[in-house]
Amino acid sequence: MPTRKVVATNLPPSRPAEVLPFKTSRPHGSLISVLDLSLDEISEILALATLLESEDPLVRMQRLLKRKVALLFYESSTRTRTSFELAAKALGADTALISSQSSSIEKGESLKDTGITLKALGAECIILRHLSSGAPYLLEQATGLPVLNGGDGTHEHPSQALLDLRTMLAHLKGGETSVTEKTLEGVTVSIVGDILHSRVARSNALLLPRLGARVILCGPPALLPEVASAIGPGLTIERDFDKALTESQVVMMLRIQAERLAGLHLDLEDYKGRYQANGPRMAAHAPKALLMHPGPIIRGLELTSEVADGPQSLIAEQVSHGVAIRMALVARALNAVGSGSGKHTSGKAGSSAKPSSEKPGGAKPGQKPPAAGNRRRA
Ligand code: CP
Repeated sequence: MPTRKVVATNLPPSRPAEVLPFKTSRPHGSLISVLDLSLDEISEILALATLLESEDPLVRMQRLLKRKVALLFYESSTRTRTSFELAAKALGADTALISSQSSSIEKGESLKDTGITLKALGAECIILRHLSSGAPYLLEQATGLPVLNGGDGTHEHPSQALLDLRTMLAHLKGGETSVTEKTLEGVTVSIVGDILHSRVARSNALLLPRLGARVILCGPPALLPEVASAIGPGLTIERDFDKALTESQVVMMLRIQAERLAGLHLDLEDYKGRYQANGPRMAAHAPKALLMHPGPIIRGLELTSEVADGPQSLIAEQVSHGVAIRMALVARALNAVGSGSGKHTSGKAGSSAKPSSEKPGGAKPGQKPPAAGNRRRA
């Protein structure tokens, strides 16, 4: 695996997941690693996502009305950028997008100074995508603001892992929002392809075993070195994709990151023969498995159109779950959680949620919901 230039989150593989210091309590609702979150906090986020998704849009808009959220993107993005922006706007926030092109980053301004500038402009939360692992920690330290990691180098993409989890729970557990270390017991998830460069793989590999899932990492040695099983507890490596498929309820395909392949000896035709998710292979080895992919997908490489557009594919649904999860993360970062969400109860995503006006302590239509802005955690 590439060297991680991050602040201490790599945990020894020999200890059971739940006794590890997963709850590192990032300040101000930051989310940089899935290890920042306890299972209770994950449950709160899932419940809040469901609450916000079902809330009257006009009521929801009061939660962060005129609060300021900055989106700072040093790498290209479609899903993460758009869904965070739509999520913040759905809560009433003003958003500003700063990309490395067309900003003073092009003139050499540092991440630290860009962050300080955004704070001086009134930003109360920064969503960051950066090409360097660990950059969100630096930004958080420089600004004191809550930072939501939209993907940093080959480190983590925690909001993707949370939306992936929500997608799995919707299909395997009836939309359960209250998770424990047993929620995914009996579920095998194969993560397939370019594990070496994938922050999505790392976040999912760190998250899913904590909920009881068995996680198989699958790929060729060039993209999946043996040391990858040390990412965290509960991981196994399988080189034979067909074998991994037969054991999986969920198959998470990863993009071959052509931009990061320089220096690696990878024969793409051979790769496709061994690791491409195609119709005959899925039909033969995993006809009922859920097929996921964080996107962007490269049709004809890691998967075929037949599979991407087929009945097992949850790819578009994953994107939709991203908006709900990111609403919850932005609300949490700005302490606009309000009643009925912070104290999670067992619930089902998209099920029989009462209208917000009926929730205990919830706002009635046209009435400002509680909180927004005055609930900073110590
Ligand atoms: N899954 C994901 O992060 O997609 P984008 O690069 O389009 O944001």
